[in-house]
Amino acid sequence: MPLPDEFLQELKLRTDIADVISSYVNLKRVGRNLVGLCPFHSEKTPSFSVSPENGFFHCFGCGVGGDVITFIKRIENLDYIDAVKLLASRAGLEIPTDTQSKGLSELRKRIFEANREAARFFHKALYSQDGVHALSYLRGRALSEATIKHFGLGYSPPSRFALVNYLRAKGFKDSELVSANLAFTTRSGHTMDRFFDRVMFPIIDVRGNVIAFGGRIMSDEKPKYLNTSDTPVFKKSSNLFALNFAKNVGENMLILCEGYMDVIALHQAGFQNAIATLGTSLTTEQAMIIKRYCDTVAICYDADEAGQKATSRAIGILRPTGIDIRIITVPSGKDPDEFIRSYGEQGPVRFRKLLESSGNDVRYQIQKVRKKYDTQIPEQRISFLNECARLLAELNSDIDADVYAGELAEELSVSKSSIKNEIEKYRKRSFRKESKERIRNIQLKTSAANDRINPEKHRNLRAANAEEAIIAILINNPDLADTIMSRISADSFVTSFNKRVFSVLLERVKEMRSVSPMDISEAFTADEMSSITSILSSRPRENNPKRAIQEYIDILLEEKEKISPEKAASASDEEMLEYFKKLRERKK
Ligand code: CTP
Ligand code: MN
Repeated sequence: MPLPDEFLQELKLRTDIADVISSYVNLKRVGRNLVGLCPFHSEKTPSFSVSPENGFFHCFGCGVGGDVITFIKRIENLDYIDAVKLLASRAGLEIPTDTQSKGLSELRKRIFEANREAARFFHKALYSQDGVHALSYLRGRALSEATIKHFGLGYSPPSRFALVNYLRAKGFKDSELVSANLAFTTRSGHTMDRFFDRVMFPIIDVRGNVIAFGGRIMSDEKPKYLNTSDTPVFKKSSNLFALNFAKNVGENMLILCEGYMDVIALHQAGFQNAIATLGTSLTTEQAMIIKRYCDTVAICYDADEAGQKATSRAIGILRPTGIDIRIITVPSGKDPDEFIRSYGEQGPVRFRKLLESSGNDVRYQIQKVRKKYDTQIPEQRISFLNECARLLAELNSDIDADVYAGELAEELSVSKSSIKNEIEKYRKRSFRKESKERIRNIQLKTSAANDRINPEKHRNLRAANAEEAIIAILINNPDLADTIMSRISADSFVTSFNKRVFSVLLERVKEMRSVSPMDISEAFTADEMSSITSILSSRPRENNPKRAIQEYIDILLEEKEKISPEKAASASDEEMLEYFKKLRERKK
C-alpha cells in the first residue's frame, strides 16, 4: 500500500539530503555539489557526490546513486518502508499507521519472527538432555552462566528436523524457513534443518532483531563455523556481531575482533565494546557503521600471520573514514579469547594493559616495515625509508605525515625534507593512477554492453540515449511535460526499463507538476535508482531544453520506426508497406 502523497511531500520538505548523508559521510562543498568518500565502495579520493538542489547522490566510481530514501535503504540495509520510517522519525514526522504494519514487507516480518523463535528453541535445547555436551563445551571454554544467557547462546539438536518441526507447529511455512535460511530443501524435496549439532550464536541487529546465526561445530570437523547466508533481513557485509550491546556501553571506542568467541570472552572480561565481523573480512559498509558509533577503533585480530594480514587490510578500509585507529597486539600467537583465558583471573587486567599500550595504525605499519630491514646497513636503510614514505603518502592528513616524517628523520639521521620530498613523489604517482582509474571507470559505466538494469540498451543505443535525455529533461524541466506528452507517450519508448521510468515520472508530473527522484523511489529498486541518477548526473543540463526536447523526440520516433528484425518477421504486409513508404519519404 503506497504512502499518502501529503505525507511524502511533507517528508520531502523536511528532509535535507545533504544533512542526512552528512551523518554518514564527511562531505565537502565543491561548487553546487557536496563531495566525499563513497560509503559503498573503498576509495581514497572522493568520487561520491551529493546534489542538494536535485535531491540525489551519485558515485562516479562505483555507479551507485539515488534519492535520500535509496541512500538509507542501501546504507542501513532496509526496505523502502523502513527507510521512510527512519527518515520520518529523523524529521519528527509520524508515519500514517495503517501503512506501517501493512507496508513492512510481510516476509521480512515472518523471518524476524522465525529467527526469534529459533533462538529461543536453540537456547532451551542447550539446557535439555540433548544439549548436555554443548553446555559443557561452553563451560569448558570458561563461559559463565550469565554470559551464556546474555548472548542467548544455544544448541541445535542433532535430528535434522528438530527446528523445522518445531517452527511448523508454530505456524511457519516451509518456504519462510527456507527464506530465513534456517532450513533448506533437500533433493528429495524435504525441508531440513540447516544447523544441527552445533553451538549456536544468535546475531542481533542494533534494533534488537535476531537476524542470523553462527553455528560452531564442537569437534575438529570442517567447516568450523556455519553462518546464515544473506537473507531478506540479513546482509553479512553490513552487520557486526555484538554491536547491539557494544553501542550502549558509552565508550567512544570499539574493539574490533575476528571471532565470535573473542567478542564473548572480551565482554565477559568487562570489555563490552568488543565487536566482530561475521565470517568475512571487514567491508567499507562495516567501517562506516563503526565510524558512526565511535571515534576510535582498536583492531584486535589474531596474532597469527593471517590475523596480521587482515589487520593491514582493515587499516586500509578504516582509514578513509577518518576514524582513529589503534592496533592491539596480542602476544605469543594467541587470539584474544585464548589470551584472556590463559591468565585466569588476571585476564581482564592483562588485556587492559594490552589495550593501553596499543599503538596507532601508522606506527604499527612502520614497525612492521622496520622488521624487514637492518637499518644499520645503508642500502637497507634507504629501502626502509622508501617504504615508509610510500606508507605516509597514503595518509589523509599532511600534519600526520609531517609528524612521522620528523620522527623517522630523527631516528635515522636523515633530513626531514628529503623524506617529505619522497612522500610527495609517491602522492603524485598515486594521484595519476587514481585519475586514470576514474576515467576508465566512467568509460566502463557508460558503455552499455553489460547494463544489467537496461539490458536492451546496447542493441538500441541511439534510442536509449534519446530516451535518457528525455527523462532527464522531464525531471529538470517539468514545465515541458505538456509539450512532451503532446508528441509521445510511454509507448513511444523502445527500451522497457526507460519506458517504465518515463511512465512513472509522467504519472507523478501529472499529479504534482514537478518531480524529484524521491517521488519515484518507491517504484524502483536501489539498483534501478542508481541507473536513474546516473542518467541525470552523466549529462549536463540542457541550455535550451525546449529545442533539445524536440530533437530528442525526433530521434526517438525515428528509432521507434525502424523495425527490428524480430518485429519484421511478425509484421503484416500492410505494416511492411507502410514502413517502406516512410523510409522512402524520409530519403526524399
Ligand atoms: N569463521 C567462519 N567460518 C569458518 C571459520 C571462521 O565464519 N569456517 C568466522 C567466524 O565468525 C569466527 C571467525 O571467523 O568467529 C574467526 O575464526 P576463528 O579465529 O577460526 O574462530 P574463533 O572465533 O577463534 O573460534 P574458536 O575460538 O571457537 O576456534
Ligand atoms: Mn579462538
